Amino acid sequence: MRSKKAEMDVEYNVEDEIVSSDDDTMSVDSEFSTASTVKTPRTVSRLKKETTLSRTPSVSSAKKPKASLSRRSTFSAVKSTPSMQKRAASKIDQTSDALSLYEKARIKLHVANTPDCLPCRDKQFSDIYNFIETNLRNQTGGCMYVCGVPGTGKTLTTRQVILCLKEGVNDKILSPFKSIEVNAFQVTEPHQIYKLIYKELTGENVSAEHAVTLLEKKFEHKSNESIVLLVDELDMLCTKKQDVLYNLFDWPYKKNSRWIVIAIANAMNLPEQVMSKISSRLGLSRLIFQPYTHVELEEIVRLRLEELNVFDMDAILYAARKVAAVSGDARRALEICRRATELAERDTSKKEGKSLNLVNIGHVDQAVKQMFSSAKITLLTHASKMEKLFMKAIILLYQKSGMEETSLNRIIETHNFLCRAENMQPLNRTQLLNVCCSLASTKLILLEPCKNIYLQRVRCNMSVDDIEYVLNDNK
Ligand SMILES: Nc1ncnc2c1ncn2[C@@H]1O[C@H](COP(=O)(O)OP(=O)(O)O)[C@@H](O)[C@H]1O
Ligand SMILES: [Mg+2]
Repeated sequence: MRSKKAEMDVEYNVEDEIVSSDDDTMSVDSEFSTASTVKTPRTVSRLKKETTLSRTPSVSSAKKPKASLSRRSTFSAVKSTPSMQKRAASKIDQTSDALSLYEKARIKLHVANTPDCLPCRDKQFSDIYNFIETNLRNQTGGCMYVCGVPGTGKTLTTRQVILCLKEGVNDKILSPFKSIEVNAFQVTEPHQIYKLIYKELTGENVSAEHAVTLLEKKFEHKSNESIVLLVDELDMLCTKKQDVLYNLFDWPYKKNSRWIVIAIANAMNLPEQVMSKISSRLGLSRLIFQPYTHVELEEIVRLRLEELNVFDMDAILYAARKVAAVSGDARRALEICRRATELAERDTSKKEGKSLNLVNIGHVDQAVKQMFSSAKITLLTHASKMEKLFMKAIILLYQKSGMEETSLNRIIETHNFLCRAENMQPLNRTQLLNVCCSLASTKLILLEPCKNIYLQRVRCNMSVDDIEYVLNDNK
């Protein structure tokens, strides 16, 4: 499960390999570091909406005392450091002449390229920012559960908030705090996350059991520093007892705690379905990232391509609509546009005179076809054994009943049967629920929510032929 999830993430790299031209990797990497100068969403949307760059009085830093801890005053202080500016300028000088417009567009569209700004996430940015800032100011602990399907900007937004708060610290309008980021993909077993957190906190390597004891000890005395802990891919830390999740959510509420935990998950219903003991504590501190709409996806792509006259605007809208209809995943929209750019570049290089071809709807359509047809096969090929058996169980039930939909309960029974047939230890229900959520998060299956989670309807979202092709290929 865990290794597969890591592979799922790698899926995007795999596809990148498929869609990238051989020679662009170097230039992409070298350009990434130039993008570290981020603008807050508020600033960006203002820049976009207003034709002038002037700020409204309410956000003018001149009107707020410099030492104020208010969020807006902190926002106004966000700027790139001199070293960042120098680095960025020299990188741009080196590359701007040498790169074609297409290459620049491809670099800008790469998912690993931190965007110059964060459009469409203004509210989420504010919510996370205010949550952390309030706890920092009050010297209290707190926990926020951030959820939503992959590619909706959860990690990016949270990282950007922390970056913004750090700028506030540099400008001496916020007290210093320590920030730690851990990703559950990094560990092979949920309890190992303690080891990782302790290592990030102190630099020391200790066993997972020792780490949890040492961490618990820290709450016996009032600390003089707040700790912002970002735990990404929380779904991977589910255990039968849910003790890891329980601790992560409990630590911020210990008497002396100044831990501010931002827990990011794909599943919306982890608190209700799995963490009933603590869900009441989460209270209002829950934030959902909805899939992007086509309007938002269009804006995300358009802003990355600003000043590069290389795309037909209708082509961007077309890509945005295609993605919004399936997943609302920003990564997908960016990848399609990147692939379409390559196709346009190829057309141009074949043309006499080599005048620039704008990337048009035809290129996007071709890119969509290439990517959607292969993406699911790639995903399933890299899925874990248990996920493949889950898909096999769905096919078996389909072949038996002729019904495209079935209940999770029935799949669990069939999955156990298949495990035994293959001499494998069957998974328990919680583990299978994780497998199910993970397949749903990558849209290989579709779920129809139901109050009783085990009665929810499950439907395959790829053709039986494709599934069998992958399963037989891997025998
Ligand atoms: N609002 C946005 N603006 C620009 N790019 C975005 C935005 N949201 C997502 N992306 C792109 O999609 C990628 C995936 O976003 P990420 O935050 O990792 O999603 P999640 O954590 O929800 O799976 C980012 O690295 C970025 O390239
Ligand atoms: Mg993420």
